[in-house]
Amino acid sequence: MKRLFVLGAGSMAESFIKGIVEEGVIDPRDIFVSNRSRRERLLELSEWYGITPADSVARAADADLIILAVKPYDMMEALKQLRPHLSDQVLLSFAAGIPIEAMQRATGGHPYIIRTMPNVPVAVGMGAIALSAPSTVPRDKLRRVVEMLAGLGQVVEIEEGLMDAATAFSGSGPGFISYLLEAMEQAAVELGFAPELARKLLVQTVIGTAHVLREWDLSPSELRRRVTSPNGTTHAGVEVMQSQGVYQAIVEAVRRAAVRAEEMGREYTREG
Ligand SMILES: NC(=O)c1ccc[n+]([C@@H]2O[C@H](COP(=O)([O-])OP(=O)(O)OC[C@H]3O[C@@H](n4cnc5c(N)ncnc54)[C@H](OP(=O)(O)O)[C@@H]3O)[C@@H](O)[C@H]2O)c1
Repeated sequence: MKRLFVLGAGSMAESFIKGIVEEGVIDPRDIFVSNRSRRERLLELSEWYGITPADSVARAADADLIILAVKPYDMMEALKQLRPHLSDQVLLSFAAGIPIEAMQRATGGHPYIIRTMPNVPVAVGMGAIALSAPSTVPRDKLRRVVEMLAGLGQVVEIEEGLMDAATAFSGSGPGFISYLLEAMEQAAVELGFAPELARKLLVQTVIGTAHVLREWDLSPSELRRRVTSPNGTTHAGVEVMQSQGVYQAIVEAVRRAAVRAEEMGREYTREG
C-alpha cells in the first residue's frame, strides 16, 4: 500500500493511524485523513502522527486503500460522497453492523469492499481484527490488506455472517473488560489502595492472564480451575459471582451487543 485515505478522524481512525505509523511501513505523509467538519481535529492528528489533512474527499481518488472509519449511521452518506472518486481502490470498513452488500449498493457496485471489525488495541499493535471479504475482491488485493493489518495485531478471516458476533465480543471487548476492571479497581480502593497503584496491578493481571492463556494454550475455564483451590480466595470470590448471576449477565451482554450490531445494520442502511 503506497497511499491511504482515511475517511473519519475519530477514536478508531486514530487508533488505526497510530498503529500504522508505528509499524513504519507507510510514510505518514502518504496517509490522507478527512472528516466532516472538525478541521482542528485533523491538524491535531497531523501534529501527533505526521499525517496529511485532506480538505476534500476528492483526495481519495489517488489512494490505493480507503479506510471507512465513520460511525455506522454516517456510512451511507459518506459512501455517496465518496462514490464519484472511486475506481480500483480497496475500501476497508470498520463500521459495526453495516453489511458489505449495503456498502456495495451505496457505491454503485464497487467490487473491492472488505469489512473488518478492529478494536482499539490496534493502536499498540495488539488489536484483534476480524475480517471478511467477498469473492469480488481479488486474492492479491486481499493479501496486501491482510499483511498490512497483521502488523496491528491478530487478524482472523471469518464469514460475514459472524461479523456481528465478532463486533460484540472483540470490537466491544475492550469496553467490557474495562468495565470489569472498573469494578475491581473500586473494590481495591475500598480495601485501602490508591487507584493508580491498584491499576498497576490490575492492568498487569489482565496482560499476564492473556499471555498465559495464549502461551500455555489453555481455555479460560481450565485456567480458572487451575488458580482456584478449594476454599481459597478465588473460590470464595467466584462463588459470589455465581450466586449473583455475573456469568449469565456477561453472556447476555455479548448477545445484546451482537443484536445491536445487526439492528444498526438494518437501521442505518434503510433506503428512502
Ligand atoms: N471506537 C471503537 O472502539 C470501535 C471499535 C471497532 C469499530 N469501530 C467502528 O469505527 C467507526 C468509527 O467509530 P469512532 O468511535 O472512531 O467514531 P467517532 O470517534 O465518532 O468518529 C467518527 C468520525 O467520522 C467523521 N465523519 C462523519 N461523517 C463523515 C462524512 N460524511 N465524511 C467524512 N467524515 C465523516 C467525523 O467527523 P466530524 O468529527 O468532523 O463530525 C468523525 O471524525 C464506527 O463505524 C465504529 O463502528 C469503533
